[in-house]
Amino acid sequence: MWAGRVLHAALSRAPRESRAQSALAQLRGILEEELESIRGAGTWKSERVITSRQGPHIHVDGAPGGIINFCANNYLGLSSHPEVIQAGLRTLKEFGAGLSSVRFICGTQSIHKDLEAKIARFHQREDAILYPSCFDANTGLFEALLTSEDAVLSDELNHASIIDGIRLCKAHKYRYRHLDMADLEAKLQEAQKHRLRLVATDGAFSMDGDIAPLQEICRLASQYGALVFVDESHATGFLGATGRGTDELLGVMDQVTIINSTLGKALGGASGGYTTGPGALVSLLRQRARPYLFSNSLPPAAVGCASKALDLLMESNAIVQSMAAKTLRLGHKPWVTSMSIRSGCDCSTVPQLPVTPSSCPQIPQSDGGCWLHHLRSQSPHLPCDAG
Ligand SMILES: Cc1ncc(COP(=O)(O)O)c(C=O)c1O
Repeated sequence: MWAGRVLHAALSRAPRESRAQSALAQLRGILEEELESIRGAGTWKSERVITSRQGPHIHVDGAPGGIINFCANNYLGLSSHPEVIQAGLRTLKEFGAGLSSVRFICGTQSIHKDLEAKIARFHQREDAILYPSCFDANTGLFEALLTSEDAVLSDELNHASIIDGIRLCKAHKYRYRHLDMADLEAKLQEAQKHRLRLVATDGAFSMDGDIAPLQEICRLASQYGALVFVDESHATGFLGATGRGTDELLGVMDQVTIINSTLGKALGGASGGYTTGPGALVSLLRQRARPYLFSNSLPPAAVGCASKALDLLMESNAIVQSMAAKTLRLGHKPWVTSMSIRSGCDCSTVPQLPVTPSSCPQIPQSDGGCWLHHLRSQSPHLPCDAG
């Protein structure tokens, strides 16, 4: 009787197991084919393993000696700044490794509130809300803010996270040609029928270092009754006279309604993102933004690092000025002039170096004794030889 039941169970398991195995074999086949197509398209992304802290000089597995690192977004060198590290350690010790909770359940500490207030002060906005990343800030914003009655107008080269955020929302979508103000105006005219219009753009586009023409965007927005959203991930901390960003650089701080940015680049480089803008918008995001509501709080060490980075920038303008001076100096090096260092309008502060790894030159020993191993590569989804 018992043996019969075991035999029956084994027999009925056999076809199930073999179906599971064939599903797995099918999956492996599909994955291999997909991976091969990525290799074939020349868009395979391999990762170098850094064995030191992030910084201008780093050590990389398999590369003897140091190399000069141009591809991090560590614009101000704060990722390894001693005071930033100390602040991270202090908050780690005092507030622990993490909250094991989302913000609204039991994941808000005094340091989160302090950092949000500091971010709002830094950008001269009413309030700010933290996210685990700027990717999350971008995927949280549009869906929470815009309905099917509204419209969003987006630069075609906006960051992937803005594109994904817009995909998630029900608003009518208009994509205007990169930096093309005539096209934006045409789209704004088309979008007049909607309740709200939100123009969304990167402040500084990381791949080519383009700066969004915010004065013109704000002028058009005001003419057609639209709001302006800017992702300042590649501007916060260093663009503009005091590093407030593209809106400061172009004199439109009072005209940009919403800013999203990252703590994972110039502001210490740990991780985290935020939205800053009108108080009521921030309140709505705390109620509705899904990456805020359903993801763990920012770890205290990351909060401490970002908070110290902001302190350093608000106490003095020395770091911002030093970066601008270094960019100018670098631009005069003979081995750099063959690459384009983009200047942020009339002040040269964006060291964006769009070259492919295969075209990397070698830096002479006199310029630091390091090999320039890899500059910022082109957009990771484009083949190496694309445009
Ligand atoms: C323009 C822009 N927005 C958002 C992000 C995402 O930032 P985070 O790393 O904080 O998710 C990036 C990161 O590369 C970016 O370049």
